[in-house]
Amino acid sequence: MTILKAVAALALALAACTGFAQTIKIGVINVYSGPFATLGDLTEKGYRLYMKLNADKLPPGVKLEIITRDAGGPNPDKAKQLAQELIVRDRIQILTGVIFTPNAMAIAPLTQEAKLPFFISNAGTSVITTRSPYIARFSFTLWQSSYPLGQWAAKRYKRAYIAVSDFAPGHDSEEAFERGFKEGGGEIVGKVRTPLANPDFVPFMQRAKDSKPEVVFSFVPAGRQATAIMKAYGDLGLDKAGIKFIGPGDITTDEELPNMGDVPLGVVTAHHYSAAGDRPANKAFIAAWKKEYGEKSWPSFMSVGAWDAMDAIYYVIREQKGRIDPDRTMELVKQYKNPNSPRGPIAIDPATRDIIQNEYIREVRKVGGQLANVELETIPMVKDPWKELKK
Ligand code: PHB
Repeated sequence: MTILKAVAALALALAACTGFAQTIKIGVINVYSGPFATLGDLTEKGYRLYMKLNADKLPPGVKLEIITRDAGGPNPDKAKQLAQELIVRDRIQILTGVIFTPNAMAIAPLTQEAKLPFFISNAGTSVITTRSPYIARFSFTLWQSSYPLGQWAAKRYKRAYIAVSDFAPGHDSEEAFERGFKEGGGEIVGKVRTPLANPDFVPFMQRAKDSKPEVVFSFVPAGRQATAIMKAYGDLGLDKAGIKFIGPGDITTDEELPNMGDVPLGVVTAHHYSAAGDRPANKAFIAAWKKEYGEKSWPSFMSVGAWDAMDAIYYVIREQKGRIDPDRTMELVKQYKNPNSPRGPIAIDPATRDIIQNEYIREVRKVGGQLANVELETIPMVKDPWKELKK
C-alpha cells in the first residue's frame, strides 16, 4: 500500500469512528410517472423543501444521500422489487415515501426481515402499521377522517349514498363513514365502488343521484381523480338537485382546487391538513413553498406528510448522533412529537406507531377570489379510530 492509500484508509476509519463526514442513505419509494405522478411530485417537493430549510439541523459532518425510486403507481410487485434493491444493493438505513397502500403492504414484511425503519409519508389504510414493527406513519388513516365525518353528517342528514375507490383505503373510508353515520342514526341508501384505474365517474354518479340521497360521501385518490369525480357531480346536476357532496380531504385536495371550477363551493370534508389553515407554522410553510416553487403552486397533504416524515428522520439522526440503529430508531420515533407541524400538533402513538393529529371539518369557500378548504371545526388529537375501536 502506498503511504497515500494508507493515510486515506486511516482517515476513513477515523471518520467512521468519530461520526465525522458520515453519509446516511435514505431510500424514497414514490411515484414519478403515470397518471398519479403529480402526487409524487408534491411529495418530493415536501422532502426537498424540508431539507433545504433545515440543513443546519443535522449533526456536524452528517450528510444525507437520498435515493429515489419510481413505483409508477399502485404497483405492489414493483414496489417490493425496488425495496429489495434499496435494502440489498444500496444498503439504505431508513426508508420513506410510498403513496399507495398496496405498495406499503408489499414492502412491510421486508422492513421486518431487514430491520429497516420505514417512515410512511402517505399510504393511509389502517392495517399497514400492524404489518411490521419497523413502520411508523406520518400521514393519516382514512378512519381518522371518515369516521368523524360520518358522525358529523348524521347530525345533519338522514340518507347517505357512498361511492369509494375500489381498493384498501376506499374500503376503509366506506366502512368508517358507514359506522359513524349509522351510529348517529343515519341510513345508507346505496353504495358503489369505482375502479382505481381509469374510472369514468358519470355512471356511478348517475346511480347515486337516482337513489335520491341527501348527501353523497366519496373517497377517491387525491389529484386528477378528485377533479374528475367533482366534474361528474356537477355535470349531472347533483348540486342543483340539492344533494350535498362530502368526503375525506382527498376529494378537495388543495393543489387541485384551482382546476375544479366553482362546483366544489360548499363541499364539506374532514382532513388533517388544509393549505388555508391559519396556524403560524402553516403560514410560514406556505410562504416558503411559494418562494421555492412559485406563487401559483400549492402544497397538499402529501407534501406535509413528506415534510413531517423528514422532520422525524432528522430527529432520529440527531438523537443518535448520526449512527442509525434500527431498534433505537423505532424507540425514538415512538417518542416523536411536534407541536408545530404545518397541520397543527402531531405525535406518534407509541402503542401503534401511527400518527395522532387534529382532524378539521372544512368547507370549500372562496377566499381572496380562490377556492380554499376553510377549517370550521377542530376535532383535537384523533388516534386511528380503527385501532381504538378494535381494542
Ligand atoms: C392510499 O393508497 O393509501 C392512498 C392513496 C391516495 C390517497 C389516499 C390514500 O389520496
